[in-house]
Order: sequence, then structure tokens, then C-alpha cells
Amino acid sequence: MGEGKGFGKTILFGEHFVVYGLPAIASALGNTTTAKVERNGKEGYELVDDRPETPGYKEKKKGEYEKLIGNVINFMGVEEGIRITLGGNLVAASGVGASAACAAALARAINDEFQMGWDDEKINKAAYEGEKGPHGTPSGIDNTAAVFGGLLRFKKNLESGPSTIEKMKIKEPVEIVLGDSGKTSSTKEVVADVRALKEEKPDEINPVFEEYAKLVEEAKEALLTYDLEKVGQLMNRNHELLQKITVSCPELDEMVETVREAGALGAKLTGTGRGGLMQALTPGRELQEKVAKAIEEKGYTVFKAKIGV
Ligand code: MEV
Repeated sequence: MGEGKGFGKTILFGEHFVVYGLPAIASALGNTTTAKVERNGKEGYELVDDRPETPGYKEKKKGEYEKLIGNVINFMGVEEGIRITLGGNLVAASGVGASAACAAALARAINDEFQMGWDDEKINKAAYEGEKGPHGTPSGIDNTAAVFGGLLRFKKNLESGPSTIEKMKIKEPVEIVLGDSGKTSSTKEVVADVRALKEEKPDEINPVFEEYAKLVEEAKEALLTYDLEKVGQLMNRNHELLQKITVSCPELDEMVETVREAGALGAKLTGTGRGGLMQALTPGRELQEKVAKAIEEKGYTVFKAKIGV
């Protein structure tokens, strides 16, 4: 039996903007998806999905995952029938890079079962192929975080060459709170809507992209100098820019307001948006608990994590 795992992720800065070649900053989460692969002597694959989930996520994403798994299997040239078992402690939800974690875990487990000897770069290519299932034209940030882990700055190469991946080190890991809106969104649809908006209203939307391009450089500096107040302010502004490109929703906005009132240094949606997750910067266990409680009281599910581990 082959085994593998992939990290969940949170995007600190730059979802959607990253699709257009602007840099983004993401951190892997400690939570992972695991995959086991066994040859079963049949044709095709059988899937046992034991991952915890946001209610309805697996059903809504069934077709996308079929494409994801098919893409990874084809890319890796697997011809024998396999049984895939997914598990781990990453909750399958929009925003945590659940599909990328699954693609990375599966690629690693296939590599292990068939003794292919692929290195992380090739595993990342397989995971990227998998991501084309749910994303259409993914930037590659989610699978990169899922495979390599850590805190990283990612810049998609819009030509055919490799994207830029820079590992970042911060002084100490920082506590965050993730709040789940309970709504599952389609990355493919939301990314397509942003593209349409950008084409329809360039005068309104291009300045948002220009502002983001400056903001992400300040964010990198603030993270490296461990100026967490500044990181929080920039997250707040990044959320406003995401609102302007219409990828937030009432639940995410409510959580952002709630955590700010509870003392979070900053907050924004993370990932695709229009559902999925909100993330709040909450250095220290005490603040993390306080902020988590504030959104739980509003009826949302909460995950506590650290970035930069
Ligand atoms: C989804 O986690 C991040 C998006 O920017 C899409 C992508 O980068 O492929 C919305």
C-alpha cells in the first residue's frame, strides 16, 4: 500500500490577483489530507472518502473530484486499477485548499505504491494537473502550498516557464482563526466571474489590481519584519479590494466585522470567496480563543491554526 499527504493552506494575501501573475503569500496549515493507494486488480479506481467535511461539500464537489483524480492518474500513467482512501484532519471545505491537498496526497501515494521515485517538483506538477479538475486554470498556489508546506510567496508565470516560489521565514509562527461560512463555492465559476468583471469594467477594476500589487510588497516586508499590526491592516485592506472584485459575501463580511470587534489585528476572506473561509490574525493563544469564541457565538464553525510553522 502506498501512502501520502498534502497540506491544507490559507492565502494571507492575493487570492484571485495571483491568477493574473501578481504575487501572493500563502501559508500551509498543520492540518493535512492523507491518501492510501492499493492495487485492487480491477479497472479504474474506487474511492473511499473519509475526510471530515463542511456539510454538503463532498456531494457538491463530486464531479470536480472525479476530474481531479482522473487527471492525476492519467498524468502519472497509472494503468492498474486502484482503491484510494482519503482521510486526515483537514476539513474538506472551500478556502482551505482541500482539493489541492487531496491532489498532492494522491500523487504522493501513487508515487509510493508504484515506486516511481518522483521528487517534489514532479509531484507538484501532478497535483497541478489534478487541480485543473476543480479550478479549470489554477494559478498553482494551492498545490504548491499543499506539496511544499511552509510560508511562501508565489508568482504565477503567465508564459510557459515555471512559476516563482520563494520560501519565507518569519520570526515566530502566529496564531490565526479561520471561520467557516458553511457555504461551498465553485472556484472555476468565481474565477470566471472576476475575469468577466475585469473585462467589462477595466476602469473600475484595473486600479484595484494596481493597488493590490503595491499592497503585497508591503505585506511581504511587514511579515519579514514581524510587524503584525501592519500585516493586520494590510489584510483588512486586501479584504476591501476583494469586496470590490465581488468575491466576498454577507457571511464572510459578518465574520470579518465580528473578529475585528473582538480584537483581531486584521481579517479577510481566504481562498475563492463567496463562501468558504474567513481568516483573522490573532497573535497569542488568549486572543485566538477570544476571537474564535466571538464567531462561534454567531453560529459559525471555527478552526484554530498557526501560520509560518
Ligand atoms: C483559490 O484557493 C485561489 C484562487 O486565486 C484561484 C487560484 O489561484 O487558482 C481563487
